[in-house]
Amino acid sequence: MSVTVRVPAKVNVQLAVGGVRDDGYHDLANVFLAVGLYDEITVTPADSLTVSCSGPGADQVPLDRTNLAARAAELLAARYGIDPAVHIHIDKDIPVAGGMAGGSADGAGALLACDALWSTGAPREDLLDICADLGSDVPFSLVGGAALGTGRGERLTVLPVGGTFHWVFAVAEGGLSTPAVYREFDRLHDGVDVPPPVASPLLLDALRTGDPGALAAALVNDLQPAALSLRPALADTLRTGTDAGALAALVSGSGPTTAFLAKDADAAGQIAETLLASGTCRTARVAEAPAPGATIL
Ligand code: C5P
Repeated sequence: MSVTVRVPAKVNVQLAVGGVRDDGYHDLANVFLAVGLYDEITVTPADSLTVSCSGPGADQVPLDRTNLAARAAELLAARYGIDPAVHIHIDKDIPVAGGMAGGSADGAGALLACDALWSTGAPREDLLDICADLGSDVPFSLVGGAALGTGRGERLTVLPVGGTFHWVFAVAEGGLSTPAVYREFDRLHDGVDVPPPVASPLLLDALRTGDPGALAAALVNDLQPAALSLRPALADTLRTGTDAGALAALVSGSGPTTAFLAKDADAAGQIAETLLASGTCRTARVAEAPAPGATIL
């Protein structure tokens, strides 16, 4: 018997980054929006805990215990006194190391799949606790939709969304390390008093009303200068998408994927075609938001 779970990618429509904390993390006001690009995680009983991966970028995914999916199985098993003897297969469609929470999605997906396979009866709060132990973005991968993450991003408040948003994602060649982008953020703010991060009321309104123009005007990613400093060529991708009619363009999370908000599905298709033809990215994908969180298939 196997269990398969589908988990969405995310884009940060607001990523407000505060100063570095004593534990090395940054305080955030992180508005997550789940988008319709998905990884599928299948767990099957086996002799021991093993991981395999297929799909674009699969060769860059670690198959050892550092994989968040394996750690999710171990943490859940430890909490409920179960032997984590499962094979986890990750069918990847979310860009690897792309700033779209692909690794977090696999952690949340494996957790939900193992929970169903082992019939632990774990309350949702326990699953969310384990997600927060796995990583700052993992609780959101479980929940999906839209949410404000505070603390290091793991404390979630679900947000209402009043419509469908059409996005294009330009996937860059290679990945960017999230810790490296935060270190670059710290370097760029050396000696600067970084104000506490606050969610933008205009942005929350734009989500609530489902108005793409208003959302475009409110999009902001404080990590973007750091990602551009490490990967200056991303500026060409951003410009290409904007020239092709995107309402707004920004780096997705810590990058290097770039995200473009379109006024409708047709515009998204045209922006994706222009980006693909431009040679400023490896591939371009269209996706709608919001998408549901981790779901058992
Ligand atoms: O929580 P997670 O393990 O996914 O975070 C990966 C890295 O991103 C952390 O080790 C840290 O360098 C950086 N980070 C941060 N502040 C946050 C979230 C992540 O500095 N709020």
